[in-house]
Parts: sequence; C-alpha cells; structure tokens
Amino acid sequence: MRTIQIRLAEIIEALSKALDLTEGQPPGHCIRACYIGTHIGREIGMADSELQELYYTLLLKDLGCSSNAARICELYMADDLSFKRDFKLVDGSLSQVLRFVLGHTGMQAGLAERFRGILNIMQNGGKIATDLIQTRCQRGAEIARQMRFTEGVAGGVLSLDEHWNGGGKPIGIAGEEIPLYSRIALLAQVADIFQMSAGREAAIAEIAKRADGWFDPALCAAFGRVAARDDFWTTLRSDELETIVLESEPGQQAIMADDDYLDDIAAAFARVIDAKSPYTSGHSDRVALFTDLIAEEMGIDEDGRRFLRRAALLHDIGKLGVSNSVLDKPGKLDDEEWGAMKRHAEFSEMILSHIGAFADLAKIGGAHHERLDGKGYPRGLTADEIAMEVRIVSTADVFDALTADRPYRAAMPISKAFSILWEGAGQSHDPICIEALERALRKTPLQQPGDAAETALGERQAAA
Ligand SMILES: [Fe+2]
Ligand SMILES: [Fe+2]
Repeated sequence: MRTIQIRLAEIIEALSKALDLTEGQPPGHCIRACYIGTHIGREIGMADSELQELYYTLLLKDLGCSSNAARICELYMADDLSFKRDFKLVDGSLSQVLRFVLGHTGMQAGLAERFRGILNIMQNGGKIATDLIQTRCQRGAEIARQMRFTEGVAGGVLSLDEHWNGGGKPIGIAGEEIPLYSRIALLAQVADIFQMSAGREAAIAEIAKRADGWFDPALCAAFGRVAARDDFWTTLRSDELETIVLESEPGQQAIMADDDYLDDIAAAFARVIDAKSPYTSGHSDRVALFTDLIAEEMGIDEDGRRFLRRAALLHDIGKLGVSNSVLDKPGKLDDEEWGAMKRHAEFSEMILSHIGAFADLAKIGGAHHERLDGKGYPRGLTADEIAMEVRIVSTADVFDALTADRPYRAAMPISKAFSILWEGAGQSHDPICIEALERALRKTPLQQPGDAAETALGERQAAA
C-alpha cells in the first residue's frame, strides 16, 4: 500500500474553514484567530512546544460548534448561523442581551412562538446557554482527542468560553485555573470578530474594555503591544495570510500525517458534520459502512476502498454551511430553502478541494446528489459524467437517507428502501451499486424493528 506524508497544519487549516461556516463567521476566522493568538503567545515568551499546541488549539477552537446548532435553532427559532455570529458580539450587558434576543428570536416564527421563545430565554437563559456551551466544549475536546491532539489542545478547546473573572461557561473557573491556551483563544477570537466587523481601533478598544473581566490582563497588555505594530495588521489583512500561518507553524518540525492518521481525521471530522443536525446523527459513519460494503462486493482493492470510505465520511461536509432552520425543517422546503439545502454539495466540493490530501474526494462531495438521468444537482451531470466512485457513495447515501429518520418522515424498512432504489435504477442510481449493496446486506443481515432483511430481500428477488 502506498504511504503518504502530508502536513497536518495544511489539513487542519482547511478544515477550520468549514468550522467558520458553521459559526457564521467570515471565512478565515479561525486562521486569523490563530495568527493573533500565536503572536500573543510569542509576545509572552511561550516555548516552541507550547506555541505548537496553542497553534492547533486556535485552529480547532470551534470543533464542537456544530453540536449545538440544532438546539440553538430549536430554542430560539432563529437561523443558527447569524445567531452564532452576532452572539459573539454580545458582552452580557442587559441592554445588549435584550436587543440581541429581540433581534434574533424567531425571526421566521409566528408571534405566539416568538413570545414563548423569548419567555423561555428570560426564564432559562442562563441554564440554556450553559448547556449549549457545555455540549459544544466537551464535544470539541473529544473530537480533538480523536484527532490525536494532546490533552493541552483538548483542554484548550474545552475551556474556550471560561472568563478571567469566573463569569464564563460552562464551569465558571477563574483566573489561572483557566488553561492559558483557552485564555488566549478567547481573546484572539473576540479581537478578530471586532476587527472584522468594526476595524482595528474597535478591536483594540474592546479587548481593553474586557480586560480583567473576560480576559487575563497580562494577555490584554501583550495584545496591546502586538496591536501597536502596523505590520501586524497589514499581515492580518493580507491575502497571503493562510500561507503565512501555514508556514509559521511553531515547533521544531511540522507535524506530518500518514494514511492512518488521515483516516482518523476524516472519521473525527465526520462527527463534526453529523453533530450539526439530530437527523444526520451517525449518517456519515453509516454511509461509509454501506459504501465499503458495496466496494468490497464490487472487488475494489484496499486503496480504493480506503479512498471511498474517506469520501463517504466527508461527502456532506458542506452541510456545515447550511442553517438548521433548513436542515431540520419538518415540513416541505420552499424554493429559497431548497436552494440553500442544495448548496451543501457545492460547499462540500469547495472545502475538500482546498485540502491537498483530500482534493480527490472533492468531486465525490460535489456530485453525490447527481443522477444518471441528469436530473440531479448541482450541475445536472449525466451518466457518462458520473464516475463509479460517485455512484457508489451516492447509492450508499440514499440508502441511509431512506432507512434513517428524517425531519419529514420516519425511517422506512430496508425492503421498502430497496424497492424505491430499484424503481429508480438506471435513472437515479446505478443498478450495479444497488445490486452490490443488496448482496452485501444479504450476507450480513441488518435487522430493523418490524423488518426482516433477509426475508425482505428474498421477496424482492422473487418479484424481480
Ligand atoms: Fe448530501
Ligand atoms: Fe449524505
């Protein structure tokens, strides 16, 4: 088997852009936070090994972000992307909080629901926010560990929302009890959000204002010294920032990833994707399994299977850029919502094409909703333009979509899913892939409540 070596920072930088999408931040937020935070780290004289941990904490600080998107949407009946973006500008003062709540609660909901939403926040706001942040931080730290990062990095992600004065969440630890990486990451995050929305002076003023409250005063002073340098801001605004951040990875040597490590990263990131919506929980893992079953059945070699499993794990990465008000909607999507939903395939392609090691997966991410008869999206490709790899993943994808709960219908039995697949065979999906999946499942019967896979498959065979 071929072995590859690729820089970990290159992959993580690119994945951080997917996290920006979910946070509703302007693209490159985590990369800019990384630039700002590592400058603060250098300013206070951190050792190279610590700076390297800080560097990855900053790029991955939002790893758990997708896990509370659905709940934000359900509780506040708002578009989670703009909610999260604007929430970061709120400093906790009553007038700001009220303005925020009135501006964001249930913009698309009726008056009664909106009223109840606001009431719920007024009565349970603190508890709700604590729960949301706890889920986000714990999940983020777990995923960082799964990506083989140190406890330093995982702990940095875990305590991102704690404040110097003890008023943060979810635990309310204070001062130096808060890991240094978290303290720097929170400051860098706020600095970037303010410099992007209101400019350099606003960012400097905001950091100074929150010194001793949200932030460690010593770090605020370090930021003040860094922010006094014009070249710091010129580089921060430069189009080359991504490359500059990549090239300035601290440490004796850049961390490299081999194929096994890339598999772990893809699997961990699949959890970020699936955490976005309760209806996609476990979807990427199951699509990877069904894809592998089809590929094995088709006699594809181990390298090919590995490639397909990764493609399956990451095919829906673009969903991070779609609001949960669309993803989780129980009813029919209107034209605009449907347009937003369909864009996830383009987002998947765009994100994956920027990751050198995953660039070959981009075409599968971009084409997994195409159909053989040209009626799919986003490009309306026809059969001769749809590669076998795409056909395999898209068959696995639709099989899982049919056999899992959806916002608009309950899961259906395997037998029914196969009859739907066979009805569209040749127009929607490739019969070779459907056949392979059916064969594979017959060898490994999958039981569902009220459904006997083997019997169901046997019946279909008899009817065919
Ligand atoms: Fe999809
Ligand atoms: Fe999917």
